[in-house]
Amino acid sequence: MIDQTSHPSYAHVKHGQPPIVDQASGLRAVLHPGSPQHRPVQVVAVSSGKGGVGKTNVVINVAVACARQQRNVLVLDADLALGNVDILLGLAPTHTIEDVLSGDRTLGEVVVKGPEGIHILPAASGIHELSNLTYDQQLLLQSGFLQLEHPPDLLMIDCAAGLSANVLYFSVIADDTLVVVTPEPSSLTDAYALIKVLSTRYQQRRFRLLVNMVRKPMEAKDVFRKLSLVTDRFLNVTLDYVGYIPFDDCIPLAVSQQRPVSTAFPRSSASRAFTRVGTAMGQWKHDHSLRGGYQLFGAAGFGPRHEEMGKTA
Ligand SMILES: Nc1ncnc2c1ncn2[C@@H]1O[C@H](COP(=O)(O)OP(=O)(O)OP(=O)(O)O)[C@@H](O)[C@H]1O
Ligand SMILES: [Mg+2]
Repeated sequence: MIDQTSHPSYAHVKHGQPPIVDQASGLRAVLHPGSPQHRPVQVVAVSSGKGGVGKTNVVINVAVACARQQRNVLVLDADLALGNVDILLGLAPTHTIEDVLSGDRTLGEVVVKGPEGIHILPAASGIHELSNLTYDQQLLLQSGFLQLEHPPDLLMIDCAAGLSANVLYFSVIADDTLVVVTPEPSSLTDAYALIKVLSTRYQQRRFRLLVNMVRKPMEAKDVFRKLSLVTDRFLNVTLDYVGYIPFDDCIPLAVSQQRPVSTAFPRSSASRAFTRVGTAMGQWKHDHSLRGGYQLFGAAGFGPRHEEMGKTA
């Protein structure tokens, strides 16, 4: 069992104090606590509200695109109880995040290598208890990241569908929330519900929008316009258009081969679009006045407690 409380970030737990929320800091600045040369880490949560819109495909393919751009990428399968990043990549990991959360393994021991040098922190499968992390489990996870020997420079979080406490938690702790939608009306209403909860309850002010399964380029801008019309009118948020991924039969084909489309069909239109998203992501600036969330993984900062998140789910 690891003594998590030996880490300086756990001092407040020992003393029974409430977590400190430090909105100005994020994982990017603290993976080498104490080091004068903090390496920046970009944390991007990929969420949607509605299920089946392509989040996992977006995560693994954008991760591959960023790895090709010389970035050190770690993918966290945050569908903790029912994850399938490993399945989409044809991996059969021996250990999962469940072993980290039980204290049996360090995070570094559980991380596996995927295609093109990306790393994956696999989720468990069918472990209902992980559907909503307790506060102690959130701390264990944070501690695991802080102790990584080779921290990433990009952490991509593949969130579960829906508005569970875990989804809100991972969105809130990230630097950016990339909301994936499709042109389907139900996808738009569910994305709006997600943005509404994160903005009204957690003061998240900026969201990035990626439109997936687009059959005509015009359709993507139309989706963005429709959603921004309602967010502008009813919510105090900034919605940034990132781009779109075309509907591409190569994706289901690659899924059936358990490979990312970017490696199975690198010249497909979807692969090229994922590369564009990866490039754009590398240029996102961090403006914390717009971000507003809790930014977990901060030097002294912890995210919202599980109990707080649970109220919204
Ligand atoms: N651009 C696309 N073109 C064609 N098919 C796609 C595209 N994107 C995703 N798909 C298909 O949609 C299905 C769902 O994709 P994926 O598993 O990535 O969605 P998800 O949002 O992660 O789902 P869940 O909410 O269940 O986690 C997959 O079968 C995939 O093949
Ligand atoms: Mg998924």
